[in-house]
Amino acid sequence: MSADPQKTFYLEVFGCQMNVHDSEKVVGTLLAQGYRQVPTVEEAGLILYNTCSIRDKAEQKVFHRLADYKKLQKQGKRFGVLGCVAQQEGAKIFERAPHVSLVCGSASYRNLPQMLVQLEAGKRVTGLDDRETEECFETEFTARTNPHRGYLTIIEGCDKFCAYCVVPFTRGKERSRTSDSVLAEAKGMADLGYSEVQLLGQNVNSYKDPSGKKTFAELLAAVGEIAGVRRVRFTTSHPRDFGRDIVEAIDAVSTLCDHVHLPVQSGSDAVLDAMQRLYTREQYLERIAWIQAARREISITSDMIVGFPGETEADFEQTLSLLDEVEYDSIFCFKYSPRPNTPSLQLEDAIPEAEKSRRLIILQEKQREIQRRRYQRHVGQIQEVMVEGKNQARNQWIGRTSQNKTLNFTAPQEVVPEVGSYIAVVTTGSFPNSLLGEMVI
Ligand code: 5AD
Ligand code: SF4
Repeated sequence: MSADPQKTFYLEVFGCQMNVHDSEKVVGTLLAQGYRQVPTVEEAGLILYNTCSIRDKAEQKVFHRLADYKKLQKQGKRFGVLGCVAQQEGAKIFERAPHVSLVCGSASYRNLPQMLVQLEAGKRVTGLDDRETEECFETEFTARTNPHRGYLTIIEGCDKFCAYCVVPFTRGKERSRTSDSVLAEAKGMADLGYSEVQLLGQNVNSYKDPSGKKTFAELLAAVGEIAGVRRVRFTTSHPRDFGRDIVEAIDAVSTLCDHVHLPVQSGSDAVLDAMQRLYTREQYLERIAWIQAARREISITSDMIVGFPGETEADFEQTLSLLDEVEYDSIFCFKYSPRPNTPSLQLEDAIPEAEKSRRLIILQEKQREIQRRRYQRHVGQIQEVMVEGKNQARNQWIGRTSQNKTLNFTAPQEVVPEVGSYIAVVTTGSFPNSLLGEMVI
């Protein structure tokens, strides 16, 4: 379909990888409807924000953007809010930002073509999920932005209802795609030249094949065995559904990357209980032990929340001691942010903001020291990296290891490593967040 020069859109994404990948599907859908993507708000007829509401700061970003560009409505531009804030706030967005004419949660993206028609007819359109949908957003029109590495959603939504988390309310109920459809898409990606496939799900390892053919670990292995696939990643894993068979799959299939992201949230049993995570520190550590007993060294990363209501100094110290016990390669730490609808909104004993900040800094500093030490062990090792690009200023190439670490490297003058290719690099130096190396000739 040729693009109508009038039908232009600009899209900005906030939030997680699921949102990034949803956006690739939304872009594909719009292109198939005759729209053309433009790089600036000024050039666009339709301005879309794919939003995140995981923490308050993330949520506020979209309202700031809408306020910044409100004046452009006079030029006939239309505004749409997609994603988690759209689902959470619904029609209230029209009150707060009357220049918005489309509000659409992620479970309604499959209706976008019809919604766009209504929008073009000058109507206000709302697409919200009532947590009832059984369908996934599968489309042949995904416009993946990177030609070598691509996301593939295998499970959408979340039924876990952790006490702090807005996701079950914004992304609907947990629903998996059939293993046949996942494998067909992965094979299609490999045929198009993608060598790295990243399987996505809010809880990727809670995957349940509706056709009953494959467990998550079997699906992982099957994707890894597709000709042309060199790397398979998967994120995010929930400890509750993390089985030993996942580690066995990584052991058995060399294309499965040496990295597991296993968010713990807290090292204290009391806080884990209040968070309704439904595992104990000990059970979590058991899973860590399985991962650490793998034949290949698997990098482990995590998410942590500090300042959950009622978190005492002793609870916080349990989280600190967990860092020593596990020795993560990286963690994302967050200050607890009260979210609409969530059970923890009702909890008392809120932790003051300043105390949350203090704990966050202590946690981050401790982890930085752990990483400084841990990254050193790679010095002298030869690792394969996927080339991601070049840092011109430093005259270094940017590579990514199977463990998902950045390994910046130099290459001889006459060699130009191709982006997307795989190259052996010897590590010569280390920092808390990256490695330095030289291409092996
Ligand atoms: N406050 C702070 N952090 C949160 N996360 C999820 N919900 C909240 C919240 N209300 C964090 C968790 C999760 C990550 C994606 O975001 O650590 O794993
Ligand atoms: Fe943000 Fe969660 Fe929605 Fe992802 S699923 S965009 S992290 S609120």
